[in-house]
Amino acid sequence: QCEISPHVQRFDCYPEKESSKEKCLERNCCWRLPIEQTNYTDKRLTGIPFCYYPTDFPTYEIISNETTDFGQRIRIQKSQTTYMPHDILNLTVDLIYETQERFRIRIYDSVNKRYEVPLQVPVVEKRANNTDYEIRFGKKPFAILVTRKSTGVTLFDSSVAPLIFADQFIKFSTRLSTPLLYGLGEHQQPLLINVTNEWKRLTFYSRDFPPMENINLYGVHPFHINLERTPDNQTHVHGQFFLNSNAMDIDLQPLPAITYTTIGGIIDLYIFTGPTVENVIEQYWDVIGKPTMPPFWSLGFHLCRWGYNNIENMISTLERMQSANFPIDVQWTDIDAMSSYLDFTYDSEHFHGLPGYVRALQADGIHYVNIIDPGISSTQSAGSYIPYDEGLKRGVFMTKFNSTELIFGKVWPGITAFPDFTNPETIEWWTDIASAFHEVIPFDGMWIDMNEPSSFVDGSQDGCTDNSLDNPPFTPHVHGDALSAKTLCPSAQQLLSSHYNLHSMYGYFEAQATNIALRTIRKKRPFVLSRSTFAGSGRYTAHWTGDNQATFIDMYFSIPAILNFNMFGITHVGADICGFLLDTTEELCVRWMQLGAFYPFMRNHNSLGQKDQDPASFSWEVQQIMKQALLMRYSLIPFWYTLHYEASSKSRTIVQPLFSEYLNDKNTYNIDQQFLIGRALLISPNLLPESNSVHAYIPQDVWYEFPLGVKLSNVGLFTDLDAPISKINVHLRGGFIIPMQIPGDNLVLGRGNPFTLVVAPSQFGNASGNLFWDDGDSIDSIETQTYNYLEFSLTNSNKLTINILVSNYKESAMRLDLIKILGVNTSVNNVIINGKSYSNYLYNIPDQILLIYGLDLDMLSQSSQTI
Ligand code: NOJ
Repeated sequence: QCEISPHVQRFDCYPEKESSKEKCLERNCCWRLPIEQTNYTDKRLTGIPFCYYPTDFPTYEIISNETTDFGQRIRIQKSQTTYMPHDILNLTVDLIYETQERFRIRIYDSVNKRYEVPLQVPVVEKRANNTDYEIRFGKKPFAILVTRKSTGVTLFDSSVAPLIFADQFIKFSTRLSTPLLYGLGEHQQPLLINVTNEWKRLTFYSRDFPPMENINLYGVHPFHINLERTPDNQTHVHGQFFLNSNAMDIDLQPLPAITYTTIGGIIDLYIFTGPTVENVIEQYWDVIGKPTMPPFWSLGFHLCRWGYNNIENMISTLERMQSANFPIDVQWTDIDAMSSYLDFTYDSEHFHGLPGYVRALQADGIHYVNIIDPGISSTQSAGSYIPYDEGLKRGVFMTKFNSTELIFGKVWPGITAFPDFTNPETIEWWTDIASAFHEVIPFDGMWIDMNEPSSFVDGSQDGCTDNSLDNPPFTPHVHGDALSAKTLCPSAQQLLSSHYNLHSMYGYFEAQATNIALRTIRKKRPFVLSRSTFAGSGRYTAHWTGDNQATFIDMYFSIPAILNFNMFGITHVGADICGFLLDTTEELCVRWMQLGAFYPFMRNHNSLGQKDQDPASFSWEVQQIMKQALLMRYSLIPFWYTLHYEASSKSRTIVQPLFSEYLNDKNTYNIDQQFLIGRALLISPNLLPESNSVHAYIPQDVWYEFPLGVKLSNVGLFTDLDAPISKINVHLRGGFIIPMQIPGDNLVLGRGNPFTLVVAPSQFGNASGNLFWDDGDSIDSIETQTYNYLEFSLTNSNKLTINILVSNYKESAMRLDLIKILGVNTSVNNVIINGKSYSNYLYNIPDQILLIYGLDLDMLSQSSQTI
């Protein structure tokens, strides 16, 4: 039973650190060093487990199987316990045929109710017909096999390893279709996870730690996309989501296979059959929820730092930005603007006059966001700090295990209590204290940090208990080796359940509460920025990737991160531009501003004590380059805003990897130094120091240089693009029409500025695009249809139509001033607009660009216009 060959079929039976032959055999597993085996040929493999399950390791068998309305209900049983305490011998397996493309497997204790993730997911009671998946199972041992009906490819096969289901140890494995997968965050990692030759372990438990490889980070998203090859050599993808919030390890191995080891909850697993990336994302977001529509102003440039230290410094930074004519939309403050690091206060000595200053900024169209940490100081004298006094009265704080005593950690202000955001009373209290502070300083958005939750002491001021929540029989490979490392004790109590179960959702519930508070207070579309996230957080918040370093490598890692978070449904995402920790350099900061101009969320943020890195702090030459990048961003805001609309209403990612659009092109699978905005703009940043060119892949398609408009002649290959310090390579894909706008000093002031359309014909001479426009700030403009929605289409290379599908927002003019049509290869001698000849045009013969200028066309004046 131990003769398992090849090695890729070994499933780890002793993942804990100190494995040994004795300990392995105690578990009735096999112990073999790979080298001992005579047929050891897999020299390239790394990470082969020495201790692994024998083929006859005890597991479950089917005892009954009934057809239900939703699919099937199977009872399974195990007659013998194995190595973990409290084995659960009787389980129920629900196979739910939720939609044609979505299949759900739920395995839970047949007798006792267990904790389940409190996400509101769709409840399906009726089995879908004509599914693209087919289910079979093994009776003894119990196993589930899911194949794609149309191709016969295996999507899921749990027969590869024994199912283990104990109270605090649940483990199951399934075969992957190929060793190529994407997702599984939040981790610092390249986009493509390739386990062709190695075992790889990823740990999930929200944790405050500067992003580094192989460490569990701030957020938890146990979702992945797996590539499949069809028998006729096409590529399909399917997705898989493990709905479980307990600390867990996910192990990947070259079989290829994936193993989930979680320490609580149930098995609740979704399979999405795609078959395209776009399809999988839509199917996933149908379960977790679509991203929230951000306010228009939040698409602009945000300036922040920890350590302005006083208002004079902050004002002079903003003033030098403005006098150097940088567009800027949002000014932020960090904890140094608080009084003694107390939430919902400001330091009236060092930041004297902050309230008035914020109001003055707002009068000029600039918005203001401040930081809030979850830890509420408990050591202020009674009556002097309302957030704590009120919170105490209203019972909103987390308590110790089986006790009404509060659990205290330590954060910036010293000893703190932690609100339990799963309690509805906490949301009301949070809204009340935020509202009172809003009276003092009318902030426009809230930055919620340290919400893993992070604490400077392990567990609590008084340590943790020795119960099984604080000391589980198995601890996933979390950084710090203990669940209580730099956070609260798992045994702490929250209203919905123990912190043991809810820890990784702390940021999720705080974001939800903060979103509700902002809606109530401002009566406008909320902007929340959260560091910790869980599946579904995108419904409430934007995200930044935490405490990166000012290094070229961290700049690179920001790209896979924003691409992953888009797949996770948190589309409004960015990294600290120019780097948070360490001093940046002029070169790095230029390159990062150029890249950051194409992050969905664009914020330059810096740590305490690091040298200034706001664009205006650099030399005149460098400022011009940064400004160019910023102006390119600002001119593209109508395009970005429309993408956000599509994300929140049609489940589309805002930025995406190349493989998502060119799925049959293998060259794209490993590309994560380039990305697409929407489907139309290809960004190829220069991520290397002292380099004047970028090695980039240009997929087989029609591409035009942006913004110039010259068509590329070499496509379908890797090429070295010219990338001197002044340039970021952007290419526009044929087939698309991009709405743009002349930038203003900020997005509020620029709202009424004229629009431009850039038309990029495909190889067939057609193109299309769209534009969503509303007041940018109303909570319900989409629900009430108080917006304008326009579609643009180019047919036969020479007829451009503007169609209005919705035109219910009339408050701001929408004037089209310029149309730029690329790739016009026959000479133009007549331009007709709405039936009338028009003479303001220029045709550039060598570059094949037609400019129709000085239009002053009211885009809303009639339902259809032709050019
Ligand atoms: C940690 C956050 O990640 C960082 O962005 C912030 O500046 C510091 N906390 C101080 O608040």
